[in-house]
Formats: sequence, C-alpha cells, structure tokens
Amino acid sequence: MNKKQVELIEKAKTYAKSILENDYSGHDFQHVLRVYKMALKLSRNKDVNLFIVSLAALLHDLDDYKISDKDSSNVKDFLLNNNIQEAEEIKNIINNMSYSTYVKGNNVSNLEGYIVQDADRLDAIGAIGIARCFAYSGYKNRSLYNNDKDDESSIAHFYQKLLRLQDLINTEAAEKIAVERTTFMKNYLEQFYKEWDIE
Ligand code: NI
Repeated sequence: MNKKQVELIEKAKTYAKSILENDYSGHDFQHVLRVYKMALKLSRNKDVNLFIVSLAALLHDLDDYKISDKDSSNVKDFLLNNNIQEAEEIKNIINNMSYSTYVKGNNVSNLEGYIVQDADRLDAIGAIGIARCFAYSGYKNRSLYNNDKDDESSIAHFYQKLLRLQDLINTEAAEKIAVERTTFMKNYLEQFYKEWDIE
C-alpha cells in the first residue's frame, strides 16, 4: 500500500468513529474495528487488495438501516470527498455483504468481498456475537426469550440467523473460527435452557 492509502485508512477510522461513537445497538465503532482487524487477518497469505478490504471493513456499517436513517449517504460521501478511485468496488462490497441482502438473493462476488463478509459474520457469533445479540434486542425493546424459537426474542435470533452463519462462511481461515464459535453458542444455549427451566 502506498502512503496516501495508509493515510486514507486512518481517515476512514476517524470518520467511522465519529459516526458510530454513540451507537449502542451492537454496531458501534469497536465492532467496526474488530471487523477490520479480522478482515486483515483473513487476508494473510492471500492475493487481495488490502486497501479495498480495509476501507470496505471500516465503512461497512455507516449507512446500515439498523442504525442510520434510510437516506444516509455516509459511505458515498467519504469515497467522493476523498476522491477514492476504488469507490465502486468498495460500495459494491458494502451494498451486498449483509445477511438481509443474502436472504434477498444477492451477494458479494470477489475475494475482497468474501473476506469482509466473513469478518462481519464472525463478529455476529461466539461470545461477542451473543453479547451483541442481546445488546441489539435491548436496543429494540425485545425480550430475552419466550419459550419460542420463532419470535422476535434474542434466543429466537440464534435459530433465525446466528447458528446458520457457519454454513455461509466463504474462506477456510474463517470457517475454522466459525465452527469454534458456533460450538460455543450451542453450549451456551444448553446452559441457558438449564437455568431457564427451574424444577
Ligand atoms: Ni457489521
């Protein structure tokens, strides 16, 4: 990477922090930093454009419907204001990497996209994924559990999404981590039900 790209990555970090600093939905700046670091880790020994991976990871949640209003254009603004040549590739990853996009039948289509998507999905599972799931439910005034695996509670979300993510991982390096984290969530659920059912 050249000096200008390194500077732009730092700038993207500061920008993401300024927008997500006061987020309590689980999509806060620390989530973005973890996704960024994980994406770099998954990029090791791979022939990928690290500048694209870095910016896509750092900017990926800035216009997420869960946290910003529908018409926000934070990603576009940043790419435009900084005259970033790779803007189209970066936007393409960000617009197609989410689980809701996947459910609608669209997906990322290059290695940079697969890596950033894996990094984001890994942060949705395991110990941190559990913490983020409950944080998001609290943010949305949803309950922990209602003896139901198909409602809007936190525990139901494990079955609707979190336990399924392991099968949607793209890269081998991420798959190993996903398997470990999914096992942890299954054990967690077992313990949860044990404590729930008081006899
Ligand atoms: Ni995310």
